[in-house]
Amino acid sequence: MAVSYKELGLANTKTLFQKAVAGGYAIPAYNFNNLEQLQAILQACVETKSPVILQVSSGARKYANATLLRNMARGAVEYVKELGYEIPIVLHLDHGDTFELCKDCIDSGFSSVMIDGSHHSYEDNIALTRKVVEYAHAHDVSVEGELGVLAGVEDDVVAEHSSYTKPEEVEDFVKRTGVDSLAISIGTSHGAHKFTPAQCTKNADGVLVPPPLKFEILEEIEKRIPGFPIVLHGSSSVPVEHVNTINQYGGAMKAAVGIPEEQLRRAASSAVCKINIDSDGRLAMTAAIRKVMAENPSEFDPRKYLGPARDELKKLYMHKNINVLGSANKA
Ligand code: G3H
Ligand code: 13P
Ligand code: ZN
Repeated sequence: MAVSYKELGLANTKTLFQKAVAGGYAIPAYNFNNLEQLQAILQACVETKSPVILQVSSGARKYANATLLRNMARGAVEYVKELGYEIPIVLHLDHGDTFELCKDCIDSGFSSVMIDGSHHSYEDNIALTRKVVEYAHAHDVSVEGELGVLAGVEDDVVAEHSSYTKPEEVEDFVKRTGVDSLAISIGTSHGAHKFTPAQCTKNADGVLVPPPLKFEILEEIEKRIPGFPIVLHGSSSVPVEHVNTINQYGGAMKAAVGIPEEQLRRAASSAVCKINIDSDGRLAMTAAIRKVMAENPSEFDPRKYLGPARDELKKLYMHKNINVLGSANKA
């Protein structure tokens, strides 16, 4: 039986994005696949009084089971009440690739969906996105579309202008699809290995600095669709201390470089009102688990390593909300 997100006490993105654009901050969109990630996200956002977007990917649905995941997210509303401060919670499908998947999520209580048609032709992207928007809006659910393909180090397109969002397309895309927000490509990419050391320069402290995001494209987009909610995917910063901890305690991560936090802060102060972060959480958890395992080789109670991983994750998210996205005290 279909259930509306409204019955579950969840929020869509409409008012949240309006306030974020006007206020010069971005709402955190954190992915979760298990209990500890969900606890860390909610605890961090309650303690910093930040609105939150809980993201579920297709991979997460397969890993944790779609029914279990959405019921965990439903519990989130009651859980934050127990924590003592009610924050707006959006339940969002990350990178939906078909109409059927988006419909299934809408019917089961999601308040927001992404339809990622960026790998289709422009016209096919519009047709697919429009179809999702029609169904979603009939249920008051928000829709995020995407224009431009996120660069990836793996496929060697990181410096290719062809993958960036074309500002001349955004107005037409937004008008013809009716989307509520638009994910754009200005130099971010998914995963921990966004840039190779060879693509970076070294600053005075020996820190690898990647090429800057294409703020000129963002500005051009903002000129064409003023105040329209913009989304940044692939926005992990890949904290060097977590990569070092992983390698110190038996890991084998090669040099990994992410998006510098000050660039995300700059983006958040513009029309960018949703910033997606997943990989940094993976690194924080893995670093904490490796450390506990290495220092306590006889430990076999999962709570003894998942607990510290959850604490590390919560610390990371609090830092993001307060110092990077500017979403603290906005709930
Ligand atoms: O953008 C992708 C997110 O990081 C989710 O990753 O598909 O491995 O769950 P996933
Ligand atoms: P990162 O891999 O940079 O964390 O990006 C996550 C993301 O965009 C989820 O949609
Ligand atoms: Zn993404």
